[in-house]
Amino acid sequence: MAAEVSRSSPTRVLFVCLGNICRSPLAEGVFKSLVEAAGVSAKFEIDSAGTGSWHVGEPPDARATIVAREHGVELDSRARQVTAEDLHDFDHVVAMDRENLRSLERMASASGGAAEIHLLRAYDPDPEGEEVPDPYYGGVSGFENVYQIVTRSCEGLLARLRAVANR
Ligand code: 4NP
Repeated sequence: MAAEVSRSSPTRVLFVCLGNICRSPLAEGVFKSLVEAAGVSAKFEIDSAGTGSWHVGEPPDARATIVAREHGVELDSRARQVTAEDLHDFDHVVAMDRENLRSLERMASASGGAAEIHLLRAYDPDPEGEEVPDPYYGGVSGFENVYQIVTRSCEGLLARLRAVANR
């Protein structure tokens, strides 16, 4: 049996931003659609969360939903706050910016979670910045910019995770 087929437990990926209504729902939706297009949905569990609690229970920001839909991506998440358990339960926790990264690293060192914590833009082949900019206080064009960054970076992340799984 090929190594790829015999690997049974899915790779668990959690995308994290501040509010879990703009950037990380876009990353979750884009990554899910890339995984579906590649025919590898069964190999991944994908979710998103926020370091803050202000928007818990809310759907994604309408601007994120509109921009995603323009690109054929449907967003279906509800905001939740990241937990210490997430840092045990997920294999990869992917932060949108350095502040998110620091929050997650603090939680992981307090709770002993073993998840690998990355910045999403570590996988962006167009390295014009290290962070996915927060579009919340801007206009729709900021969301389109985030969509483009997130899509490039998620393509890079998926290629990396598939390469590691097939090693
Ligand atoms: P996100 O954007 O972290 O990409 O979901 C934000 C959403 C809400 C707020 C800030 C950023 N807020 O301050 O409420």
